[in-house]
Amino acid sequence: MEFSIKPLVPGRNAGGCSVVGIYAGKAMSDAATALDRTSKGYLKRVLQRGDMEGRIGTTLLLHDVPGIASARVLLVGLGAQAEFGEKQFRRCVTAAVGALANTGAADAEIHLAELAVGRRDIEWKVMQAACAARTTIYRFEQMKSKPEKAAPALSKAVLSVKTQGDIKRAARGLARGLALAHGVNFARDLGNLPGNVCTPTYLADEARKLAKHYRLKIQVLERADMKKLGMNTLLSVAAGSSEPPKLIVIEYSAGPKSRKPVVLVGKGVTFDTGGISIKPAPEMDEMKFDMSGAGSVLGTIKAIAEMKLPVNMVGIIPATENMPGGRATKPGDIVTSMSGQTVEILNTDAEGRLILCDALTYAERYQPAAVIDIATLTGACVIALGHVVSGLFANNDPLAREVLAAGEVAGDRAWHLPLHDEYQEQLHSNFADFANIGGRPAGAVTAACFLSRFTKKYHWAHLDVAGTAWKSGKEKGSTGRPVPLLTQFLINRADKKR
Ligand code: BES
Ligand code: MN
Ligand code: ZN
Repeated sequence: MEFSIKPLVPGRNAGGCSVVGIYAGKAMSDAATALDRTSKGYLKRVLQRGDMEGRIGTTLLLHDVPGIASARVLLVGLGAQAEFGEKQFRRCVTAAVGALANTGAADAEIHLAELAVGRRDIEWKVMQAACAARTTIYRFEQMKSKPEKAAPALSKAVLSVKTQGDIKRAARGLARGLALAHGVNFARDLGNLPGNVCTPTYLADEARKLAKHYRLKIQVLERADMKKLGMNTLLSVAAGSSEPPKLIVIEYSAGPKSRKPVVLVGKGVTFDTGGISIKPAPEMDEMKFDMSGAGSVLGTIKAIAEMKLPVNMVGIIPATENMPGGRATKPGDIVTSMSGQTVEILNTDAEGRLILCDALTYAERYQPAAVIDIATLTGACVIALGHVVSGLFANNDPLAREVLAAGEVAGDRAWHLPLHDEYQEQLHSNFADFANIGGRPAGAVTAACFLSRFTKKYHWAHLDVAGTAWKSGKEKGSTGRPVPLLTQFLINRADKKR
């Protein structure tokens, strides 16, 4: 679908559909009022009949509205005007595009970015609208022998703005919104692919393609390289698998040379059986999503590269399967991490932290301005926070605030959880420096505590996305989170430091 920005007067332009908002209580937005006037009160009469109450997310499609040049008018419910905020804004765009995709309209003019959304400016509104539109029409059909539904007729969308003066900033919002959506959808594709396709080798190949396309520096470390570096905790997870592990390192350097990079480290377990501490069968298929952290790093790189964002960042992805097998790591095994610290592996299902810790040590060589790791790390985080917000941990409060703020702007929120010293005691081991699990209480916290022992040399934040990276049940599938948060974090750094 192609997008453009224009200051359009509603109702004047021939086309497939005009989309306007209706607040709860049948109160018309400015664009709806304009359509109503041109159609001599037609909209008002429709509303009076009670077919559109203005409830958020509802839509009503009208045809051949008198005096209106476009073939259709789509009314979109906005909810109460007093409550109309960021969430409602994204929701009404999603509802509108979803409804449009079910019509025969090939093009549409959408009058939603004209709505007032708190203090958000036109750039934010267009960026969010463009991203919401692109991610709404996303389908994952690569693995179907033939497409289930015909592709929507909709191929062109004009996001209408109020004035000529809005166009420049709206255009930047559009470019950024589409780039973000492409990053989100890329992460979703990688997450949705099954474990027999999306292997560590596949992730490395996708990373190479990405690097080639955007001319980025890439390096893929193989098992032998990891051995040389002493990455034994990473290797201990790969031990039970026939798929070779990979450590993918991509450098995106469009910022000033003197500026230290932000390093993103993504958990890339392409399938997590639990290893010898094997998981129960129900829902085990969802462990194909256990590389979502890795997917979000690649998705974020795609987004910022398409934006040509002037920042320096490095993506580090430890990728492996976690399988049982004759050579698999056993509970009680002790390994020496790249940092030199020894770890007693009491549960082979706590493998994410084992691959991340060596990657986090590897990150030191970049003298990072900040390191953020992203991981579907613990079921405990899902119990604590559900599927609404990601768990955030950090060894530096300003960095934590920066990550939270980015999540707010992006509508991809996180929640700050504690990392107090007292929790560290739960990792005590009688045999090694510490264990890889901390018992049932505060499982998301002790997982973060484990990582914190490898991140002393820089400012670090950890996002546990176990509850947010994918959906279960009927809508099972990757969400692409937290690509919006991470991209916004980098945008904020790029915008601020110039
Ligand atoms: N990939 C899982 C975490 C997970 C579980 C994400 C369920 C989403 C849904 C991780 O590798 C894992 O198995 N964690 C264990 C840790 C435990 C053994 C300390 C868990 O959460 O049960
Ligand atoms: Mn596991
Ligand atoms: Zn896992």
